[in-house]
Amino acid sequence: MKIAILGYGTVGKRLDELLCSHPTGIEVKKILRRPGKAEGPRMTESLEEILKDPEITAVAEVLSGVEPAAEYIRRALSAGKHVVSANKAALASDLPGLISLAEASGVSLLFEASCGGGIPWLESIKKARLFDEISSLKGILNGTGNYILDAMERQGLDFSQVLERAQALGYAEADPSADIDGFDVYNKTLISCSLAYGGVVTKGFPVLGIRKVTKELLEGLRAEGKSLRLMMLSRREGDRYAMGVAPLILPADSIEANVQENYNCASFTGDVVGELKFYGQGAGGYPTADAMIGDLIQLREGTARPVELTRTLVYDESLLQGTGYFADGLRKEGTLSQLAAYAKEKDIFMAFSYREEAHA
Ligand SMILES: NC(=O)c1ccc[n+]([C@@H]2O[C@H](COP(=O)([O-])OP(=O)(O)OC[C@H]3O[C@@H](n4cnc5c(N)ncnc54)[C@H](OP(=O)(O)O)[C@@H]3O)[C@@H](O)[C@H]2O)c1
Repeated sequence: MKIAILGYGTVGKRLDELLCSHPTGIEVKKILRRPGKAEGPRMTESLEEILKDPEITAVAEVLSGVEPAAEYIRRALSAGKHVVSANKAALASDLPGLISLAEASGVSLLFEASCGGGIPWLESIKKARLFDEISSLKGILNGTGNYILDAMERQGLDFSQVLERAQALGYAEADPSADIDGFDVYNKTLISCSLAYGGVVTKGFPVLGIRKVTKELLEGLRAEGKSLRLMMLSRREGDRYAMGVAPLILPADSIEANVQENYNCASFTGDVVGELKFYGQGAGGYPTADAMIGDLIQLREGTARPVELTRTLVYDESLLQGTGYFADGLRKEGTLSQLAAYAKEKDIFMAFSYREEAHA
């Protein structure tokens, strides 16, 4: 199978390296670079050249940001090429539209690497959905956020000190907003819940980050035997569902509270299989490229499972209820949506303690 890679950054380079050095039966025929950056016969500045090449049957999209990546995915699918993407921002911008376009074009759109890097997270959701109904998801899906909270808790450091260290280690980008304001987890939550519930989910759900978390708040939680992690949270009952991203208060002895450094840990609950938990490196060039190669091998073998978003779902914020712990000491009961709106209005940090038994 011959493919093209769109983008030659951290993941694109590792993907090319692994495919060139391992006997996968997958050959990288072309690599799309920005104008002025193409070097050697395999590199090109022209997407058109790739799309018109009948030997190239799939493209691996590893560009950064929503555009032009989403447009390139659309053009590749419309040209009858399978697409494998790691780009959660582009995918989350129009997941139902992209999935429909792939179906209409008779090709596959696979995106295992977009959530949880090398962890077989979406693949496990798809497998569970063959028989089970998934009723909840939760997880640490951002390594940078976890690194920061873990270091603040265990070493008693300030947010800004840890962020600087995370940037120096390459865990956090120069502009860390997508990670610390929760939008990276937002995209992963949208993608994960769409697959888990088999329907189109809303883009309007609460998102809280950790930019304003304080050492004092973490010390207060610790004194109560609690810990904090930036997490995705979602629950479904029948056709009703709710989801959100928030710093979650957890018992200090829970598995998630003990996820250290930049690791990820995500779980879902199936009605028959029960709760399943997945742990590992959720990012990085090699783990992410590894997940993309898994998708490419499925394409080569013709074993990719199609994704269907056919269930009609209704957003019901009352499914996620609990207590908001605000930075000024206030504690307030409510739905995550209500409490997040209050925190945004007051421009104040909030941590959420989820009451799992709360019913609508
Ligand atoms: N890194 C990870 O651990 C990880 C994990 C999971 C998912 N992802 C996702 O994978 C994607 C790639 O991540 P990355 O870390 O490899 O990012 P990156 O290092 O910033 O690489 C992105 C590449 O895309 C190129 N690019 C951007 N716009 C382009 C255009 N219009 N035409 C041609 N090339 C273009 C960039 O070129 P220039 O170098 O010229 O700017 C760069 O080479 C992202 O969507 C990211 O969210 C990354």
